[in-house]
Amino acid sequence: MSYALLRPFLFSLEPEHAHEVTLSLLEKAHKAKLIGFLSSMQSVSIDCMGMSFANPVGLAAGLDKNGDYIDALGELGFGFIEIGTVTPKPQQGNAKPRLFRVKEANAIVNRMGFNNLGVDHLVENVKRCRYQGNIGINIGKNATTPVEKAVDDYLYCLDRVYPHASYITINISSPNTKNLRDLQSGDALSRLLERIKNRHQQLAIDYGFYVPLVLKIAPDLDETQIEFIAQQLLDFEIDGLIATNTTISRVGVEGLKNAEQAGGLSGQPVWHMSTLVLQQFSDILQDKVTLVGVGGIDSGEKAVKKVQAGASLVQLYSGLIYKGPGLIEDCVQSLSSYFDWLELSS
Ligand SMILES: Cc1cc2nc3c(=O)[nH]c(=O)nc-3n(C[C@H](O)[C@H](O)[C@H](O)COP(=O)(O)O)c2cc1C
Repeated sequence: MSYALLRPFLFSLEPEHAHEVTLSLLEKAHKAKLIGFLSSMQSVSIDCMGMSFANPVGLAAGLDKNGDYIDALGELGFGFIEIGTVTPKPQQGNAKPRLFRVKEANAIVNRMGFNNLGVDHLVENVKRCRYQGNIGINIGKNATTPVEKAVDDYLYCLDRVYPHASYITINISSPNTKNLRDLQSGDALSRLLERIKNRHQQLAIDYGFYVPLVLKIAPDLDETQIEFIAQQLLDFEIDGLIATNTTISRVGVEGLKNAEQAGGLSGQPVWHMSTLVLQQFSDILQDKVTLVGVGGIDSGEKAVKKVQAGASLVQLYSGLIYKGPGLIEDCVQSLSSYFDWLELSS
């Protein structure tokens, strides 16, 4: 069924319920072997961080927090899937309602608060799944863990996900876990990355294989913060950076229904901010760290613009809600044409 026909029904439901219904329909379609996207999807293979990707278009974290739908989502044609954010212990997240559409702006506000079933549940799902693409596992801290002890939660998750992940994302940029974003600055970031990197090196030795580490940051950063984070990535030899998470800014959506709900804003209004932050990191890092561009991609053209701003890979979330899974193919095709053009003109 075309997404244009399904969307009015889904948008008539409360947003979090619509999310659950969509994933359950997808799972049913997958089990009934009704999803045929993958077979028609162009291959735009790309190698980065020591991994091969069938295409550079991935699913952003937060849509499949527990890894319950990896195989069904994989069939939609993503080149990679990021699951999580997962925390050591299961937690319910914030009180409902906590997910809102800002329809006039093709945007979403969420304050989910890392609702998830805990890292052990997620790991079992990854062990069971058959998806052949790369699976990123995005890790965070429990709401009850004080921010000064956050590193213990990251290390706990790191230990458990290491042998099961294609790459691991350290999420320090959700606006919905109290003080989490403090970890993006100063000594807090250095201390966190030092402890994580030490454990990461030990895990690589113990397992005899290397799993890349990626940091996910917010779009609400000034130039000084960006320069500092970039230097930390180099100092601690972090493999990748995901730019960006949702924003706490409401510029461009003032007065729109639901815009003033507390939480992180995503979709069209975050496009400029997140692309600018991506470009700033790219200017400083000059290909020394792999960049993943996410925020406001709702067309193939915008996926290409993220690559032009320095991304090697892109991720989608809100665009999928507004445009449906056809957006994945749109992005893959546009990127394929762009890479062909680059090759011809070089
Ligand atoms: C409902 C919702 C839940 C999200 N949950 C997470 C999460 O658990 N971890 C995370 O790193 N990012 C999370 N994100 C952020 C997205 O991964 C992405 O970085 C952000 O939405 C910007 O991309 P977009 O404009 O394409 O949505 C969430 C986004 C939304 C809309």
